[in-house]
Order: sequence, then C-alpha cells, then structure tokens
Amino acid sequence: KCFPKLHSCFQRKLGISTAAMKTETTNKKDEIEPKGGVKSFYTVQEERMEQAERSVLISCPSKTNEKKFMKYLSRHGDINKCFFYESYGTYAVVEFAHKESLTSLHQGTAIPSVNHEAAVPFKSRLLSLKNTGSLDQSSGQSAPLCQPQTTVPMNDLILRLSNESSIDQQISSLTEMHQLTEENVCLRYLVCSLLKDIAAAYFPECKVRPFGSSVNGFGKLGCDLDMFLDLDGISGRSLKKLKAGFSLEYQTKRSASERAVTQSILSVIGECVDQFGPGCVGVQKILQARCPLVRFAHQPSGFQCDLTANNRVAMKSTELLYLCGGLDWRVRCLVFGVRCWARSHSITSSIPGAWITNFSLTVMVLFFLQRRTIPILPTLDYLKELAGPLDKCVIDGNDCTFVSDVSKIRLQDNTETLEQLLQEFFEFYGSFAFNRMSINIRKGREQNKSDVSPLHIQNPFDASLNVSKNVNATQLERFVGLCRESAWMLQQREFNAPPANGAAGGTKAPWGLAALLSPSVSQAAGVKSRRGKKREPASERIKSLLESLKDQGGKATSLGAGK
Ligand code: CTP
Ligand code: MG
Repeated sequence: KCFPKLHSCFQRKLGISTAAMKTETTNKKDEIEPKGGVKSFYTVQEERMEQAERSVLISCPSKTNEKKFMKYLSRHGDINKCFFYESYGTYAVVEFAHKESLTSLHQGTAIPSVNHEAAVPFKSRLLSLKNTGSLDQSSGQSAPLCQPQTTVPMNDLILRLSNESSIDQQISSLTEMHQLTEENVCLRYLVCSLLKDIAAAYFPECKVRPFGSSVNGFGKLGCDLDMFLDLDGISGRSLKKLKAGFSLEYQTKRSASERAVTQSILSVIGECVDQFGPGCVGVQKILQARCPLVRFAHQPSGFQCDLTANNRVAMKSTELLYLCGGLDWRVRCLVFGVRCWARSHSITSSIPGAWITNFSLTVMVLFFLQRRTIPILPTLDYLKELAGPLDKCVIDGNDCTFVSDVSKIRLQDNTETLEQLLQEFFEFYGSFAFNRMSINIRKGREQNKSDVSPLHIQNPFDASLNVSKNVNATQLERFVGLCRESAWMLQQREFNAPPANGAAGGTKAPWGLAALLSPSVSQAAGVKSRRGKKREPASERIKSLLESLKDQGGKATSLGAGK
C-alpha cells in the first residue's frame, strides 16, 4: 500500500490542508512535521455540524435512478454532496448548498396517511422517497453505488493482511480498512443534527455534538455514536445585570443538583426520542449511571447511539485524542493495530463488563508513545504550557486547559517503525508494574497507584477518576499474557516476515499482524487464565500453531476469529 494514499485519507478525516501534508514515500518520518494546516477540533466540529444542518436522510427504493433523484431534489436548490448506503434498505444522504433549500423541500413533503395506524406528525429530516409510477425509475436501472458502512470480516482481513509485504504495511492497511470514511463521518453528524431537532423543541438553542471515537480520529466503521446534548450556548446565562433599574429574568424549575437537572432533561428528551423520533428504537434511559445517558438504536443509520448531557470532560478528552492522532501519523496506526488485536482476542468487547475498553486501550497506547526514549507524543502538562488565553478551560473545578493550535507543538525526531512500536508496545505492557503503578498521560510517566483497582489509568482531566475502574484482575491478566505471547511471536522469524511462497491460489499463511489476529494465540494464552493450568512451553505451542497454519495453507477462512 502506498503511503500517499493513506495520508490523503488521514488528511481528509483530520482536516489537514494539502500544504501541510508531507509527501511520504517510506515508512519513516525523519523530520518534525509541519502542523500549521491542521484545523482545531472545534473548527472541524462546527463546520461539519453546519453541513449536517443543511442535509437530509432519505430512504429510497433499492433501484432508484441516481440522476433522476438528484434532478428531482435539485428543484429545491443546489446540492453539495449526495451518497447512498445500505442499512435496512437503501438510504441517501443529501447535503444542500443552502439551508433555505430545506424550507422548500419541507413545503413539498407530505405527512403519510397510514391505514390501521396513526402517524405522529413530527416533521423531521428523515424522509422516504415514493415513486408514484409516472417516472419509470426501475426499468433497466441498476441500484445506486452504495458506500460501505461496515468493516471487512475478520477472515478477509487476515487474508488481505497476509498478502502485504511488511508489518508496517499491514498496520497501515488495517488502518485504511477500519477507519471511518468521509461518508460515515457525515452520517454521524447528520444523526446528531436529527437528534438536535427533537431536543430543540424544548431548547431551541441547543446543540448535539458527537464525541468519542466518532470524531477523535480512532473510530472504526461500526463503532457506536456518542452524543452530547450541549446547552451551554443558551443565551442569557452570562447576561450582565444593570447596576440600577429594572431587569428581567426567567423563572425556572430548580433541582437539587446539576446531576438531577441532567437526569430530568435526558428523561424528557429520551421520552421524545422514543415516542416521536422516527427510526429510533429500543430506547433505554440509563439515568442512574455515573454519567446519565439515553441509549437507543438509530435504524436508518445503523448506529447504536448514546446521548449524554453535561459531559464536558468527555468532550475535552475527545479533543485531546483528536490532537494526538494528528500529531504523528503512527499514532492512529498503532491505535488501530492494537485495538483490532485486542478485539480479535476478546480483550475488548461490545458488551459492557470487566473488560478493558477501547478508550482505556487508546490511552495506554498514548502513554506508551510518551514513554519512548525519544517521545512520539508530548505530555498533557506540556500541551497545557503551550495554551493561549482562549484555550483556558475549567470544568467542575478541574483545569482542562491545553493548546488547540497544533503549530505551536514541537516534537523530537523519532524514526521508529510501526513494527518496532508494536513489538515494543507488547513488551512494555507485558512487563508493566500494574500492581503498583498507575498510567498518567498528564505527566507522561507512571505514578504510584492511589487505589486497589487492578488497572489504574488516571482520567487526564479528573485525577480522582480511574478510566479503567471496571477492569478486573482476570481481564488484566489476560491482556498481559497476550502481550507477552504477541511480543514473543513477533520475534520469531516464522512470523515476523512474509512466507517465501504463497499457497496455491496465491494466498499466504497468516504472518506478522495477521498471525497476531488469528485465534491460536488467544487460545494458547487463554489456557492459563481460564483453567489456571501450567502451559506447555511456548516453543511447542508455536510449533503446533505453525503446523496448523501449514496444513491450512491458503484456506485462511478457517483461521478467522470472527467478531
Ligand atoms: N470516556 C471517559 N471516561 C471513561 C469512558 C469514556 O472520559 N471511563 C469518554 C472518552 O472521551 C471516550 C468517550 O467518553 O472517547 C466515549 O466512550 P466510549 O464510547 O466508551 O469510547 P470510544 O472512545 O467512543 O470508543 P468505542 O469505539 O469503543 O466506542
Ligand atoms: Mg464510543
């Protein structure tokens, strides 16, 4: 895989201008990266939110004629962008050039009259295209080209990675296949914007912002959509009172605490989403959680959604991760590699529990990159030092200030390859003193643990919180075991270079990252954690793994871990 292609993907996603992009022809990064063109997180977010406000989501018959469809819609105004995807049917995302087009579109859109049922007459921007028959849409027409919204299955991934020629290329290729596409990011912002319309019935000035992996640069296709109902922008909060004379203020309902207000707002909005929100199903109000939320599935997009409010610290950690991902191209690659490795061995899970989460794992990668002899990432304290007056931010008494202008950040010249970094990541955590030490990316060094949790990762913006409080000793032990196992495998010649000859059909037995993703490793490591039995010597296990790989030759389908 060529790096320029990979870079252009990163560039688009992170909003990096062409001028700032380095023409990369090798895996090495030999100079301090120019960062003048990287847009700040909030700039990107505001731009994308504004685009989403001008967009609609339309369910279409599967064989919709794209040209006629575009022509039909452009009666309402110029269209900036349109793409199709599949999710319980075919959908189109249409972005108009001007917001006024939506007024025109709404005027010509009917509320359906349904037999034996009744419709809630809530006018959203989720529409259905109906064909009255006068336009012959389907005859001889093929279905519109649909943009993929999911990742390749694990078996195919292993197969594809096995055909790469270096571990660096495997990791880059994995990143390319897993990262969110431009279209998927647009769809995420659009779903937030649709949700905003519901909340705006009560709070017209509210915003619904995506946070977490949808926007921090580390999202994988299919990841959940974390949303934040932002009421901070409601005008009148900081209105200065005149010294003398009359003034008016709103009478408001009061609750005992900010938390109680958040719970009541989410409860009502959750109810509206459930009762009025088209396409929103399985609404659950989880209001007693540390961070109260409303969880639901948005069927037209296929996203699992979590709506929170008053969650500003999470917004800040999202911004920090976004910044780190943009500082050095290896950061995102390594995170994608490690996250995929962890998922393939059930170190992480889509079900909440005592597992390590993707967020914890990402912070662990960032910490590891801060700990390199020549650090690849700076500490959060350093980023705070560089902050300007506009970056000042205090949330619930916690100083969350750090620089937003990346051009101020100076990094040292680290030239380690992704292969080296992956290998060293496994060694680093395979021998980390988890029993005594806490991971702290603010200081960029480990510190004595302040509580008894098996895994302690300090929340960078609230020192009193442990990001990985949920992780139990067994899960941590599995992680450490797999790190050791994987470090060992990457040192073996059989695994760290492509096999000389591919099997019949041109496919190669899994090697490098592909071998690390195959289930054999976890099975070997799992013996210890599940049964507590002594394992056979590693050399024996690897030998039998090699034998099984040889036997299977090109039949990589039988090797996949699946999801
Ligand atoms: N978060 C946090 N502390 C935690 C868990 C989450 O601050 N203990 C914040 C982080 O900013 C995180 C976001 O909430 O990115 C969303 O959490 P989650 O969905 O669990 O993680 P993601 O980073 O979105 O990763 P995934 O792809 O697994 O959803
Ligand atoms: Mg998430």
